Amino acid sequence: MKSIKSYVQENKDRFINELIELLKIPSISADPAYKNDITKTAEAIKISLEKAGCNKVEICETPGNPIVYGEHILDNKLPTILVYGHYDVQPADPIDLWDSPPFEPVIKKTEIHPDGAIFARGSCDDKGQLYMHVKAFEYMIKEGNLPCNVKFMIEGEEEVGSSSLEWFVKRNQEKLTNDVILISDTGMISNKQPSITTGLRGLSYVEVEVTGPNRDLHSGLYGGAVANPINILTKMIASLHDEDNHITIPGFYDKVIEATEEERIEMAKAPFELDDYKKALDINAVYGEKGYTTNERNSIRPTLDVNGIWGGYIGEGAKTVIASKAFAKISMRLVPDQDPDEVTKLFTQHFENIAPKSVKIKVTPHHGGHAYVTPIDNIGYKAANKAYSETFGVPAIPQRSGGSIPIVALFEQELKSKTILMGFGLDSDAIHSPNEHFGIFNYLKGIETIPLFYKNYVELYNKV
Ligand code: BES
Ligand code: MN
Ligand code: MN
Repeated sequence: MKSIKSYVQENKDRFINELIELLKIPSISADPAYKNDITKTAEAIKISLEKAGCNKVEICETPGNPIVYGEHILDNKLPTILVYGHYDVQPADPIDLWDSPPFEPVIKKTEIHPDGAIFARGSCDDKGQLYMHVKAFEYMIKEGNLPCNVKFMIEGEEEVGSSSLEWFVKRNQEKLTNDVILISDTGMISNKQPSITTGLRGLSYVEVEVTGPNRDLHSGLYGGAVANPINILTKMIASLHDEDNHITIPGFYDKVIEATEEERIEMAKAPFELDDYKKALDINAVYGEKGYTTNERNSIRPTLDVNGIWGGYIGEGAKTVIASKAFAKISMRLVPDQDPDEVTKLFTQHFENIAPKSVKIKVTPHHGGHAYVTPIDNIGYKAANKAYSETFGVPAIPQRSGGSIPIVALFEQELKSKTILMGFGLDSDAIHSPNEHFGIFNYLKGIETIPLFYKNYVELYNKV
């Protein structure tokens, strides 16, 4: 039987080329214009699972984008791992900030990735990471050492809130029964120091609309006498944080579970260089909630950020106008035990309360989700940790992430199983940004590490 290491060495060019083909399809879920590419990508994932050796693969239609479901059941007495990933990607804009076209993958060396990285939208988030699972599975099938049952569930709406997946999971509990859920859609500290993501933040996302006069007005004739929605909106937004950068929405922090002193001491042990952090982002200073470190601010603390703001005239030259409306999109990242619906309500009430009489307010909620924390005393976590030790030579550090995968909390609620987040990306891989990339080292290391998770998991499972 071939070791995974030598299998990867022998097949790495093919692994890279197959991923490149997948990355060429622009499966952008946010824009309906890419519907055909969504279908094409689902089809390509289905074929890849069949070729890898799954004994059943199907494309499951939903009210939205299709879900690719595959399984390989060896024996009902064996444990079952459910692998989740998403084949949809974020929009590529702003296109002109890409050094190469987002859907024409190229391999380039970088300081952090001396072995090269694949530059393309979706390379790290999440096509590259989900494809590691397909290739790891291919190895276990070819070499006859798959130790348990496996189910794959690859969706096409993660970047827009997973509403069809929620629909699917609620209707297919039986089909999706499993012992543990395995996801590679997060990152790790560095290529020398692996980490396992033990927490994800929740999310409440709203769009606000401020309406002043019933039409755009001449800013000379009316300026100073009526409320300017853009002036008002920016003032309202500014008031959502106080001078210590705490969020001012009444009740916002009520359900937050504060980290214990021990947890904070543990967190502070993770390697982190503030100077490198600032240098990587070209900022002179960090910024955030008083009383917390940078690592705490971006993982265990809730936040509120404007993601987009618009209104009025933004074309060439000057146009003297007071716009009738102003808009903003606002995300609030949540931590246990904040409830996204409750936070959305608190936000809406507060936003209406602070608005002057001179404007009308409309708040439209978008997708949301609960935060998630993985316990580190279960066999899934232990199996992952051992796998990283075996391939990286050092044990992985548990680390809570600031990102969100809202469906993970729903998995726990509906399928009653824990999720292990074995991510292989780096924060510097520029996910959701221009020039997203995924290290070749990371891609191949992921393929190497995953079969060891399977092996360790089944060994630990048989012991208890
Ligand atoms: N894979 C990311 C989430 C992520 C990345 C978590 C890195 C931890 C580390 C996922 O695709 C994502 O972008 N999620 C969205 C939420 C979604 C509802 C749009 C997010 O976090 O903004
Ligand atoms: Mn993702
Ligand atoms: Mn994403």
